[in-house]
Amino acid sequence: MCGIVGYVGPRFATPILLDGLRRLEYRGYDSAGIAVLNLEGEIQIEKTEGKLQKLLDAVGDGGPAGFLGLGHTRWATHGLPNETNAHPHADCERKIVLVHNGIIENHTELRKELLSSGHEFVSQTDTEVLAHLFEEEYGRLAEEGHEDPILPEAVRCGLRKVRGAYAVAAFCRDEPHVLVGARLFSPLIVGLGHGENFLASDIPAVMRHTRRALVLDDGEVVALTPVGVIIRTLEGEEMQREPFQISWNLQSAEKGGFPHFYLKEVHEQPEAIINALRGRLDGRRVNLSEWSHLNFDRVERVAVVACGTSYYAGLVGRLLMEKWAGLPVDVEVASEFRYRDPLIDDKTLVVIITQSGETADTMAAFRLAREKGATTVAITNVVGSSVTRGADATFYLQAGPEIGVVATKTYLTELVVLCLLALDLARGRSRLSDEEIAEVVSELRGLPSKVEAILEQEEAIAEVARRYADRQGFFFIGRNLAYPTALEGALKLKEISYVHAEGYAGGELKHGPIAMLDSGFPVFAIVPQSDTYEKLLSNIQEVRARRADVLSVATVGDEVIATHSEEVFYIPETREDLSPILAIVPLQLFAYYVAVARGCDVDQPRNLAKSVTVE
Ligand code: G6P
Repeated sequence: MCGIVGYVGPRFATPILLDGLRRLEYRGYDSAGIAVLNLEGEIQIEKTEGKLQKLLDAVGDGGPAGFLGLGHTRWATHGLPNETNAHPHADCERKIVLVHNGIIENHTELRKELLSSGHEFVSQTDTEVLAHLFEEEYGRLAEEGHEDPILPEAVRCGLRKVRGAYAVAAFCRDEPHVLVGARLFSPLIVGLGHGENFLASDIPAVMRHTRRALVLDDGEVVALTPVGVIIRTLEGEEMQREPFQISWNLQSAEKGGFPHFYLKEVHEQPEAIINALRGRLDGRRVNLSEWSHLNFDRVERVAVVACGTSYYAGLVGRLLMEKWAGLPVDVEVASEFRYRDPLIDDKTLVVIITQSGETADTMAAFRLAREKGATTVAITNVVGSSVTRGADATFYLQAGPEIGVVATKTYLTELVVLCLLALDLARGRSRLSDEEIAEVVSELRGLPSKVEAILEQEEAIAEVARRYADRQGFFFIGRNLAYPTALEGALKLKEISYVHAEGYAGGELKHGPIAMLDSGFPVFAIVPQSDTYEKLLSNIQEVRARRADVLSVATVGDEVIATHSEEVFYIPETREDLSPILAIVPLQLFAYYVAVARGCDVDQPRNLAKSVTVE
């Protein structure tokens, strides 16, 4: 989820690009770069690894002088986050330069073709194939005598060969008044100025300069000059578009209009699921190239190791791997795992889950697993993070940067990736038929819109949260697949609202915790349709017999539950094994609105850190 900005007009581009990047830095901070057509008519590129400040320091008050340029702030998906892989990327002759946000799924085959026709690559990114692809098309069109400007047409033709997701901004040394943009499944807007025009991933990058903008649709290419905008579809049809008026204020804009990154990231979850699935499904099958080089014939058991929210995702992963792949699975918090002498050997598959890729406890467990000869698989959101070094395979969450300290969209995408792993193991071990896998795949594809449907209930959830915000403590109960949701729901509430909350397995309540219950004590029951539904209903009765308040998360259409609960948050119908991906969403919103009502710092809760690199 990188940030893109572009400018064409009568002003010097560099300060406009750098200011735009500053406002988009929330989208990624692995590296930053700009390219400007300088006054000598050359493409001048400045880029640095790391946060934008490093680029700002490098450029100082100077930087390339010119009236056409583009910039990028990177959230790495392919290739380490170093300077070579930083955008912008250029073609062989530095005639065409571009920046990209998204994932080119067929980049390996495109790279192969381009290499065989003589192109030379300098980076490991999927993006660089676009520069060479556009160079190839540009050359062909020029030879055929295509009228100027050629670049928009070269981009259009090139992108027709691309599979995946992209927002692209590009320009060509020989066409000094033309900036080209294109998008498919990644955001890109056009800012309309007077005698100047802009491209950007998001509104904040342009709103200091203009309040008029238009949104590019998927599968469209736009050619901008200082005075004109021409939009075409990938098929070449010219499109008309009505501009809209930007009404945001500058401060709220970087959070996309949301008051906190946490809430923004909760709302990004439908898109995050789509991205986590991207490139990993092939029609009705699961296709995981990340670990296709590994052989699991000898694997007899799985150990999942993680901390915090990632550990709870691991608990769901265990149930899926046991159920679908028929493998025995242990799940353990990393800080405990390493102080035992865990029974790990070369027949063990160790799955390390860490959104940051840097958690010290998890890294220590990871090293131990490697020493013991296990096959290690890392699940992380951060490209090039420590856990990816030395892991036998790495799965990226592809969730985009998570700025809020507590995990939301990375939890959901961890669940999605674990689900894919479990399905693929089941296929390899012939435990699920193609048909059974296809059914789960089809349900997975439907999840984003179901999460969307839960988010639409935000106001109702907020209203309940405000009413319960002054309570001293909460219990969360669930069984089987809903148990990890109970734990994660309680953790969210603790982390951001500082209210005491505990998650329990429904059946465990009577073995101690029930002593805490009295009149009005709020207990969340996670009770979607499942094999243990009746059992949890019995636990709910135990709670109600103590005159405690029951708040339920249940499947839409379940009217029985309403008669046993003070409040019900409904989630759409889905398979029981995928229900954890939906059931946590109302609890994330509930925790948020309790925290806001209590005046807590949601994005940076006290005592917590996004990535804990001490043991
Ligand atoms: C910290 C964060 C938690 C997170 C845990 C594991 O404690 O505050 O929100 O779940 O680390 O993080 P990881 O990056 O390893 O998933």
